[in-house]
Amino acid sequence: MKNNVLIVGASGGIASALIEQYSSEGARVFAVSRAPLSDTNHSGDVTYHQLAEQDDRHISEFVEQLAEQQVVLTTVVITTGFLHRESDGIHPEKRLEDVSEQALAAYFSTNSIIPAMWLKHLVNIMSKEGSTLVCLSARVGSISDNGLGGWYGYRASKAALNMLVKTASVEYKRRLKDVMLVCYHPGTVDTGLSKPFQKNVAAKKLFTPEFTAKQLIHHLSALNRDQSCHFIDWNGEVVTW
Ligand SMILES: NC(=O)c1ccc[n+]([C@@H]2O[C@H](COP(=O)([O-])OP(=O)(O)OC[C@H]3O[C@@H](n4cnc5c(N)ncnc54)[C@H](OP(=O)(O)O)[C@@H]3O)[C@@H](O)[C@H]2O)c1
Repeated sequence: MKNNVLIVGASGGIASALIEQYSSEGARVFAVSRAPLSDTNHSGDVTYHQLAEQDDRHISEFVEQLAEQQVVLTTVVITTGFLHRESDGIHPEKRLEDVSEQALAAYFSTNSIIPAMWLKHLVNIMSKEGSTLVCLSARVGSISDNGLGGWYGYRASKAALNMLVKTASVEYKRRLKDVMLVCYHPGTVDTGLSKPFQKNVAAKKLFTPEFTAKQLIHHLSALNRDQSCHFIDWNGEVVTW
């Protein structure tokens, strides 16, 4: 069966590399972005879909369109997420006094709620014969690993994402049987998201999006598919929840 891959957040650094990698391996790639991207951005079988608003209704309509075309997905990677946003002055909080209702709502909206809406609708078009759904999470979303503090909104929204994925994995397994959900920490990757935070990262620990895409695809193929949900990092190591 042909690998039908959906990448959400297609204009992003890691997403672009994943689209390139999957299409070069012969997969049919559906790429969703808020932005109007062109099908000529990548070689191979890539179709771009603009979804300017990613709420329950628009995601549902998009998934229904794919269902009408009899598309059955074998791999999904939801890359949607943000850490800082200049347009409304949101930066990761250093101390309690920096915590704001507006920033918390924005973090949860993008990092937890949008992926949750994708999880809700994609269950209807994922293959029952061996499918994988990945959400790009972050190690800072691990509650047990949090020794440093700070970054309240980003951390909490990624922890919420992890819980949503873990909870959905129980139902996905019941409904689809041969399916695996993965929360993935890509390490620090040289994209717009990490740019302001790269100063203290050793050069060899700042990964290219291309390396990141290859690592992710490699680790997915090695995971135990009997386990319905995994939280792993760029090196294939388990991250504690
Ligand atoms: N880079 C790192 O060091 C790093 C480390 C740990 C975890 N991660 C995680 O990896 C994922 C991808 O990150 P990246 O480094 O590739 O960052 P990126 O280049 O900024 O890509 C993130 C993508 O998320 C989508 N997005 C952002 N805000 C959105 C919103 N309000 N509504 C809908 N979509 C939105 C956008 O896709 P469209 O505009 O195309 O829709 C954007 O291109 C994120 O979830 C991030 O938290 C990254």
